[in-house]
Amino acid sequence: MSPSSSNPDLVARADEAAAVLREASGGRPLPVAIVLGSGLNALVELFGDRTVVPYSRIPNFPTTTVQGHAGNAVIGSINGTSALLLQGRFHYYEGYDLRTITFPMRVLQRLGVQTVILTAATGGVRVDLRPGNLVCLSDHINLIGSNPLRGPADPRLGERFPDMSEVYSKRLRNTAKEEAKRLGVNLVSAVYACLPGPSYETPAEIRMLRTLGADVVGMSTVPEAIVARQAGMDVLGMALVTNTAAGVGAAPVRHEDVLEAGRKATPVFGKLIRRMVLRLAGVASEGTGSSSGEFPIARQD
Ligand code: HPA
Repeated sequence: MSPSSSNPDLVARADEAAAVLREASGGRPLPVAIVLGSGLNALVELFGDRTVVPYSRIPNFPTTTVQGHAGNAVIGSINGTSALLLQGRFHYYEGYDLRTITFPMRVLQRLGVQTVILTAATGGVRVDLRPGNLVCLSDHINLIGSNPLRGPADPRLGERFPDMSEVYSKRLRNTAKEEAKRLGVNLVSAVYACLPGPSYETPAEIRMLRTLGADVVGMSTVPEAIVARQAGMDVLGMALVTNTAAGVGAAPVRHEDVLEAGRKATPVFGKLIRRMVLRLAGVASEGTGSSSGEFPIARQD
């Protein structure tokens, strides 16, 4: 931890972290950032010309404690478009407060990132969702019991009472669906319910979530999405259904299976992310030909 980590000024701390990443990027603009969820670390392989900055070298960054979450910021590029990848995120269940787990979003704001793609592993609450399905978040239900914007207001961070009527950009969702269709992937919309964890849910809790209107459940993403919106960034939420939620199928929910499902889905998830980065850079959509947009990692199943 840097000696300045006790500085109470969140913006100053975010600026210190951003300075290290800016230097590592060699001044390349970073219009897009991608947060990689459980089991999705290998998505960094999509990007060429990579510079890896371990979280331990970024001032004021916490460290990840969860298996399946590496702790690196990776700057890389696809066809000349640079992006910042956060390989590993922080969760409320690790014991951090919500301001700490969303600190990376403040850093992205200071870096001038315009679009953040949040990826996540989720349990399928809706009965037709199956492990391996990809969903595009259309909305969320914050059931953590607190809000990452709680605390002193600072106009440099954004509004005190930011609007949340379209957290996940409709424009980005439409683009993601178009690109998924070109890949032959059925990308359905889903409402994400965020619980604090770390225990998985009970079948009764899953029935409750279904009644509340949730389609998928997870323990991340929502705090980051709230902060990213306050910070004025456009958010795309893409989730992998790694398992059927408790009580939907007969099997228990296990973290190893969540990680394994993430690894298996990496090739297709990767193709979609690649296409999104290119679309965000204003590059016309690639065709469906098997030689284009190929994910360089061999399938692991
Ligand atoms: N519940 C909560 N979080 C999850 C799940 C789940 O079933 N699967 C992956 N993340």
